[in-house]
Amino acid sequence: MTNENQADQNGFATLGITGALLKAANAAGFTDPKPIQVQAIPPQIEGRDIFGIAQTGSGKTAAFALPILSKIIGLGTKRRPKTARALILAPTRELAVQIEDTIKLLAKGAHISTALVLGGVSRYSQVKKIAPGVDILIATPGRLTDLVREGDLILADTKWLVLDEGDRMLDMGFINDVKRIAKATAPNRQTALFSATMPNEIAELAKGLLKDAVRIEVSPQSTTAAEIVQSVVLARTKQKRQVLSKMLADEAMRSVIVFSRTKHGADRVTKDLARDGFDAAVIHGNKSQNARQKALNDFRDGSVRILVATDIAARGIDVPGISHVVNFDLPDEAESYVHRIGRTGRNGRDGIAITLCDPSENGKLRQVERIIRMKLPVIADHLGSPDPQRDPKERTERHIEPANDREQHGGRRDGRRPGSGNNGKKRFGGKPGGERQFAPKPQGERPAGAKPNGEHKPDGFKRFKGNNKRRFGGKRPANRAA
Ligand SMILES: Nc1ncnc2c1ncn2[C@@H]1O[C@H](COP(=O)(O)OP(=O)(O)OP(=O)(O)O)[C@@H](O)[C@H]1O
Ligand SMILES: [Mg+2]
Repeated sequence: MTNENQADQNGFATLGITGALLKAANAAGFTDPKPIQVQAIPPQIEGRDIFGIAQTGSGKTAAFALPILSKIIGLGTKRRPKTARALILAPTRELAVQIEDTIKLLAKGAHISTALVLGGVSRYSQVKKIAPGVDILIATPGRLTDLVREGDLILADTKWLVLDEGDRMLDMGFINDVKRIAKATAPNRQTALFSATMPNEIAELAKGLLKDAVRIEVSPQSTTAAEIVQSVVLARTKQKRQVLSKMLADEAMRSVIVFSRTKHGADRVTKDLARDGFDAAVIHGNKSQNARQKALNDFRDGSVRILVATDIAARGIDVPGISHVVNFDLPDEAESYVHRIGRTGRNGRDGIAITLCDPSENGKLRQVERIIRMKLPVIADHLGSPDPQRDPKERTERHIEPANDREQHGGRRDGRRPGSGNNGKKRFGGKPGGERQFAPKPQGERPAGAKPNGEHKPDGFKRFKGNNKRRFGGKRPANRAA
């Protein structure tokens, strides 16, 4: 046996992963660690905080999951009711579900309990699941905040905190919740933050949550995987439908995700594709959670070939067979481009990413090229052709973009990042459009029956035991994160 083979066979064992966990990871096909895993697992096992940057599809999930699992398996102490030993925060519900699946797979047979806390589905079953205490909780910040405030979850014993898609979690829509959540965890907690993108101003914010972190940058932030062949097609907005349908007629586009900037746009693209004879599923924030997860599951298991999505599906989603990503339009934030196209070309596989660009989007395209440090080749130019005529039988609705037509999960409506243009001074001063109030107002608004005193927890969470519906007017604000 050569030395190289020996190293391969030892794989994760050389990083400190042993016993049942090593066996389960190997059985799941994790035998040869990826660079981010090689660099991030040993320091986490040693107890260090991690600031980890690695490209999309490069194995960041196992890079944080395996060391936490390894530490928890080694613990002898019992869990207290309503507590979680480790907390993993993710920006979307679908990503949280996927992370839990990966953890279950990696820890099969290792007697690790996991639970999900996310919005859009019944809280009762979540509360029940965490009642005896869990090893690893995977959550979106909105529902997690509710459960902590209502006393159904206690974070004081949480010794591991992970922010997956860390730059998104520290963006405007999430930062306040995330800061409060972090404050409520154990003082000696270990923190890890991972992403493929990390704008400088967000990296600064991250320092507030990390202690003497090991910085790992497998490749510079925002760089795209070499396996993804990227190109641009110049087309006016009115031409894009026809261009997309012609493209999709090619069966080599086996499994395609089409990104749209707005929820209405995603619905319109889906409708137009149906009119043109293509069956497509759609996922965006105005759909019920069941419909969202079903669309993703159908796409994942291959029963639909095309998924039309907003940026809600841009981050973290791992569907190994996606052959193509089409950007029907450019995203408001350049980083989203990196995540969108990163749904293909994962784990060393090939992938193709095509961006349809109207002349009005040239500025956004240049910004994308700046952050990915690459000029994108134009492979087709339709600007000289006339606009296609719409079938008069098709009703043409004029659409004025409503304020909540873009996904609000952390993104800013104005497309800027926190701090841009104001020297960062008022970064957390004002709330972005419609950001929810975290704690109930001190006096006057407390519903009858809620205790007046002793409910103000030192961790910044205010206990609330009244009827939750009354506080939010019976309905969760539409733009509330997860
Ligand atoms: N060591 C490994 N051996 C085999 N497969 C692996 C290994 N590590 C990760 N993978 C697989 O690679 C794929 C991508 O991993 P993962 O989803 O963790 O990427 P990521 O870096 O989190 O990407 P993103 O930035 O898009 O979230 C998954 O299907 C995962 O199962
Ligand atoms: Mg990931």
